[in-house]
Amino acid sequence: MDQRTYNPRDWTQHPPYLDPGYKSTGLRAPKKPLVPLPETLSELTGPVFGHEALQPNDSDLTANGANGGAPLGERIVVAGRVVDESGRPVPDTLIEIWQANSAGRYIHTADRHDAPLDPNFFGAGRCVTDAEGRYRFVSIKPGAYPWENHSKAFRPAHIHFSLFGPSFLTRLVTQMYFPGDPLIPLDPILNGIPDAAARQRLISTYSVDLTEHGRALGFTWDIVLRGSNATPFEA
Ligand SMILES: [Fe+2]
Repeated sequence: MDQRTYNPRDWTQHPPYLDPGYKSTGLRAPKKPLVPLPETLSELTGPVFGHEALQPNDSDLTANGANGGAPLGERIVVAGRVVDESGRPVPDTLIEIWQANSAGRYIHTADRHDAPLDPNFFGAGRCVTDAEGRYRFVSIKPGAYPWENHSKAFRPAHIHFSLFGPSFLTRLVTQMYFPGDPLIPLDPILNGIPDAAARQRLISTYSVDLTEHGRALGFTWDIVLRGSNATPFEA
């Protein structure tokens, strides 16, 4: 059992709960100051997931929703390492991802975007990091999609990530972006993170090493749980 204490979160590296540029934060931001909780066993521990809980195609989104065919779009590999605030690998931690299909549409009743669903794409997957903290997903590059934040607002292509790490204090829910996307500088969610270097840490890097000849583009993205170089939360 990993049990330790953590330094206070550095809020210059994370978005505020209330951000006027990101409209829906006004509906959910706390209206009273937060009350710090003591770090007791329930905060310093977290759920433990075993590799045996995974199904063979859980980390391959081109296969886990296939329904007699292959999903449309650019095939991608997204891989990297999960490390703690000291740069040490975080092994055996569950990573869950979800994303829109290549047309920018989610399988969700609330998604009203006039774009087609893909009968061969479910849009969610999971994996558990190995002993060096490494993870790897195969997927389809998600499309940009419109949202109601402001006129002509489109989200840059992104993949949602959820991690627990060794304790509830290392919980992280965030989004990974793709390099060179012209929508990135315009995105209120990403821009809610006050620090430019912290915003950059949510953008993956194209990787020739991860690229598979004739098959898939590779992107690398490392995740840091807590500390001064922490991967920021989404707002
Ligand atoms: Fe999204």
